[in-house]
Amino acid sequence: MSTVAPEPLLTAIIGPRTVPVHLGPGVLDLVGPLVASAAAGDGVFVVVDDGIAEVGERVQDSCRDAGLRVATASVPAGEASKNLGEMERLARAAARAGIHRRDAVVAVGGGVVGDLAGYLAASYQRGVRLVQVPTTLLAMVDSSLGGKTGVDLPEGKNYVGAVYQPEAVLMDTDVLSTLPARELACGFAEIVKYGLLTGGALMETAEGWPGLPGPGAELADLIRRCAQCKLDVVAGDEFDLGRRAILNLGHTVGHGIEAAAGYDLYHHGEAISLGLLAALRISEHVLGLAPEWRDRTAATLRRHGLPVEMDPSVAVDDVLAMMAHDKKADGRALNMVLVRAPGDVLTHQDPDPGVVRAAVEELLP
Ligand SMILES: NC(=O)c1ccc[n+]([C@@H]2O[C@H](COP(=O)([O-])OP(=O)(O)OC[C@H]3O[C@@H](n4cnc5c(N)ncnc54)[C@H](O)[C@@H]3O)[C@@H](O)[C@H]2O)c1
Ligand SMILES: [Zn+2]
Repeated sequence: MSTVAPEPLLTAIIGPRTVPVHLGPGVLDLVGPLVASAAAGDGVFVVVDDGIAEVGERVQDSCRDAGLRVATASVPAGEASKNLGEMERLARAAARAGIHRRDAVVAVGGGVVGDLAGYLAASYQRGVRLVQVPTTLLAMVDSSLGGKTGVDLPEGKNYVGAVYQPEAVLMDTDVLSTLPARELACGFAEIVKYGLLTGGALMETAEGWPGLPGPGAELADLIRRCAQCKLDVVAGDEFDLGRRAILNLGHTVGHGIEAAAGYDLYHHGEAISLGLLAALRISEHVLGLAPEWRDRTAATLRRHGLPVEMDPSVAVDDVLAMMAHDKKADGRALNMVLVRAPGDVLTHQDPDPGVVRAAVEELLP
């Protein structure tokens, strides 16, 4: 215990907290030293996606080597694990293992384990320390950052949760070598989203990306730039009352498509690929976005195996109905994020329904 904490690559000041982000090959082995360096409890509860048991074992070893008491739980891979029953199972396992108020939960996995174990940390004994160890590209550029945690209900996705910032985020780019191509592509859809949000060099890098995962050092740099973009937005609006909404670019139509397809045909990033294209088409109508951006974005998405045409088995009416359902659940206007030019985005309330329908119809082959 009481080792010296290594220097993070990025730090974000979110509300009263500073969140360090460590990124690069081998940072998995820093989990133990980091947790041990905080003058707090000596126990860790490591929650691991069962598809990546070896990664979990390395994290546990690093904790043991740092002199920590280690308890662990494995979570079945997949969205179906993000529920209150699984939360209860984890909380009881932590209690039986003697995890206390000053101990830490370490979430090792993609967004599913990050959201689930993050919410466990937010609520177990009214809040214990949390370390996020994202292992998917999507979790590195998106879900492990910003503090949103939670689980699904049968009534809706992410219906119960909390905003709870981690004490540290550790992204080991080496673990991406085992991530299936489809999951890499899903993360890349979010990277294209950041490219559109910031424009300029990040958009250029996304457009010129050679092939996934791509060269290690460059990939780490790309992840860093996306993480910085998300953290900058979150730092200005932690509780999602205003500007944070721009991170939903492509998600209004994307969520509609995901739900209309029964969360089965499309993985999240694939639905976002289509949602981005619809948002760009609506942006052409509403804000005069130059049409070349939609063509260029479609070419970039297609090159990395993401869909740019919606499967005809998905009904446009169902997509629109799901979007209306989301809007009702939100109790607000239909807020869409639109792009005037890459790097120049804004939220727009209740766009013309005819324009929205036409943009979704145009996704059909
Ligand atoms: N909290 C947020 O701000 C936020 C943002 C976006 C998404 N999310 C949530 O994130 C979830 C999706 O996350 P995801 O895309 O990471 O999916 P996921 O967690 O389901 O992981 C995808 C698959 O990859 C496997 N896997 C993970 N790491 C691996 C590795 N290194 N090598 C091989 N296989 C690996 C997992 O076993 C799983 O089968 C959704 O529940 C979504 O709601 C949350
Ligand atoms: Zn997303």
